[in-house]
Amino acid sequence: MISKLKSLGEEALRKISQTNQLESLEILRIQYLGKKSSLSDILKGLGSLSTAERPTIGSLANQLKQEIDQALENKKCELEKQVLEKKLKEKTIDPAIPSRLPHRGSLHVVTQTTRKLIQVFSRLGFDVMTGPEVETEFLNFEAVNIPKDHPARDMQDTFFLGPGVVLRTHTSSVQMRALRSKPWPVRMLCPGAVFRCDSDATHLPMFHQLEGLWVDNGVKMSDLKGTLEFFVKEIFDPKAQIRFRPSYFPFVEPGAEVDVSCFICNNKTGLDCKICKGSGWVEILGAGMVHPRLFELAGYPVDQVSGFAFGMGIERVAMLLYEIPDLRFMYTGDVRFLRQF
Ligand code: PHE
Repeated sequence: MISKLKSLGEEALRKISQTNQLESLEILRIQYLGKKSSLSDILKGLGSLSTAERPTIGSLANQLKQEIDQALENKKCELEKQVLEKKLKEKTIDPAIPSRLPHRGSLHVVTQTTRKLIQVFSRLGFDVMTGPEVETEFLNFEAVNIPKDHPARDMQDTFFLGPGVVLRTHTSSVQMRALRSKPWPVRMLCPGAVFRCDSDATHLPMFHQLEGLWVDNGVKMSDLKGTLEFFVKEIFDPKAQIRFRPSYFPFVEPGAEVDVSCFICNNKTGLDCKICKGSGWVEILGAGMVHPRLFELAGYPVDQVSGFAFGMGIERVAMLLYEIPDLRFMYTGDVRFLRQF
């Protein structure tokens, strides 16, 4: 029995040392240590041996089991190391290749456009001001000459938050804040979110406006025109032109809607241009000369001051600037869209 065990051990250790594949190593493990192996049989049969034989055979069998186990483990490590080394040799690694960077976010197109606009107007001396999105009904309406029951309130479907409190429907609500916060001259710019109960391809319940207000002694309509001309040339195209169409806003008199010449089709009326629909002009903002009523409310000397105001939709400017076909792209958060900016 002892010599049988010894030769079994020798055979196992020899075969293990000769193996050079992980798969055959596993076969050897089953063959020599598995449940159906001769070694297992011997260990199972220890009970039927005589008391004289049992300790010697038992300890020898256990020792062999451990030796084979250890040899298998060592061989496995060795073979795995070989496999790894082979792989490393096959695939040369270029340590100079830059690692993959995590995706970095970027500023939203509305933020980028707002900053662009502010940059242009700040060169004319406009200071940025902010106002709250939750606004008093007074500052959103009465203070800009839209009294209760005025039909102009219907133009802007308002979200009411409570008695006398609204989500501002336009940044013109900041006009009175500006006039009241400092003595004239005033040259302020106010970007911000505004809210209207409205939603389709060209309207959203929340969008952004940029308000401009310039109040001083002797500000004229031509100053408004010059300011807006400078702005469109800087933002859209050096050859861009503007035109004023008479319009009504209760807080300005006279009031106008301002169009910019279509810089996509270069104002060639009649072409099938997606942006201007062939008219050659695109509406971009509302503007006008500040209504004297606002100066009265602000406590300004009405006979000494005059001013102009304008308000534009920032998303609209962004759509024209980057030829974005649908307003809703800006707020669905699709990274394929957002990554383009
Ligand atoms: N507040 C107006 C609007 O929301 C825009 C505007 C601002 C018009 C200032 C004239 C002067 O449509």
